[in-house]
Amino acid sequence: MSEAASDQPILTVEHVDVTFTGRRRHIKVKAVVDVSFSVRPGETFGVIGESGSGKSTLGRAVVCLLRPSGGKILHAGVDPFKLTSGELRQHRRAFQIVFQDPNAALDPRMTILDSVCEPLDVAGLGTAAERRRKALEILDRVALSEELVHRYPHEISGGQKQRANIARALVLEPRLIVCDEVVAALDVSIQADMLNLFADLQREFGLTYLFISHDLRVVAHISDRVAVMYAGKLAELAPADQLMDAPLHPYTQALLSAEPEPKVPEGGVSRRIILKGEIPSPLAPPPGCRFHTRCPIAQAECATREPEWREVAPGRFVACHFAGKPLPTRGSVPLNGSAAI
Ligand SMILES: Nc1ncnc2c1ncn2[C@@H]1O[C@H](COP(=O)(O)OP(=O)(O)OP(=O)(O)O)[C@@H](O)[C@H]1O
Ligand code: SF4
Ligand SMILES: [Mg+2]
Repeated sequence: MSEAASDQPILTVEHVDVTFTGRRRHIKVKAVVDVSFSVRPGETFGVIGESGSGKSTLGRAVVCLLRPSGGKILHAGVDPFKLTSGELRQHRRAFQIVFQDPNAALDPRMTILDSVCEPLDVAGLGTAAERRRKALEILDRVALSEELVHRYPHEISGGQKQRANIARALVLEPRLIVCDEVVAALDVSIQADMLNLFADLQREFGLTYLFISHDLRVVAHISDRVAVMYAGKLAELAPADQLMDAPLHPYTQALLSAEPEPKVPEGGVSRRIILKGEIPSPLAPPPGCRFHTRCPIAQAECATREPEWREVAPGRFVACHFAGKPLPTRGSVPLNGSAAI
C-alpha cells in the first residue's frame, strides 16, 4: 500500500460507458455503464467484481486500448483520445497494463531480454547498448537473474514470466500501471511474493496502480481504496479497511461473507449470504437496481427505480436505496426472500 498521495488525480474516469456492438448491429453489450472515480498519484486503487462485471473492459479503456462510447477518461488532466496518433503513442508509455496471462505479451520466439528491450526499441529511446543496459537493470530489479534473461518464455516458470511482463511495462518508466488479475494465474505460494514485489516497485518508482482482481483478499491487501463492480456499474467505493470492516452495499456484504472466515459485523453475528442466480447478461441488464434479482434485501421499488450513486460519508460511495438507511417497514415484502443461512 502506498505511503502518501497528492490530491491532483493522475486518472479521472467520468461517467464512462463502454458498449460493444455485435456483428448484428442491433446487439449491444453494455460492458461498462456510467462509471466515475479518480485515482491519486501513488495510490493503489482496487477494482473487484465477479467474472463478466466489466473490470478488464474498464482497465483496457483506462490505457486507451478501447475507446469509451460515453463519458471521459483523463490522464493527469489530459484527454488521451484527443491527442494525435503520434502524441498518443508517446503519451501511452506512461500508462501501461499487465495482464493475467503471463504469456500474453511475451513473444515465444524472443528471449526474455529481447522482449523487455522491445518496447524501448519501438519507442526508439537511446542507443541499442543503452536500451539493453536499461532492460538488464529492470530485469535485475524484478529479480530475474542474468542467466534467466537469455532464455525463451517456455524455459522459465509462470511467476518468472510474470516478472518479465512487469519489467516490460516498467522499462518505459510509466506513471500508472493497470494490473489485470496479475497474480490470478500463479500458484498461491508465490502470489504473496509477487504482491510484495508490486508494493516495493511502487515505493521505488512512485507508481500508481489500478489493481483489478476477483479476489477480495488480494485487492484489500494491496489497495488504498476499492471499487466494487456489478454488471458493468459501480456498486460501492470506499477506503479498503472501511470496505472490509463495514461494507454498505448488499453485494459487497455477500462477497465478504463468502470469504473463508467472514468477519462478524459490529454488534451482530457472522452469517453467510448465499447469492442465488448468475450475474445478469450485459445484453439485457435488469431494470431498476441491477442487483435486485439476487439481492437478499431487495424491495419492490428496487425492480423499477435505479439507485443513485451517492456519497454517504466522506469518501464512501454506494449505489443502493437502503444503504445506511432503515428498510421500509409497512407493506414491504423482500423480493427474493431471505437468502441468509
Ligand atoms: N470485445 C468484446 N466484444 C463483445 N463483448 C465483450 C468484449 N469484451 C468483453 N465483452 C463482454 O463484456 C462483459 C464484461 O467483460 P470483462 O472481460 O470486462 O469482464 P471481467 O470483469 O474482466 O471478467 P473476468 O473476471 O472473467 O475477467 C462480458 O459480458 C463480456 O462477455
Ligand atoms: S437498491 Fe435494492 S436491490 Fe439494489 S442493492 Fe439496494 S436493496 Fe438491494
Ligand atoms: Mg477480466
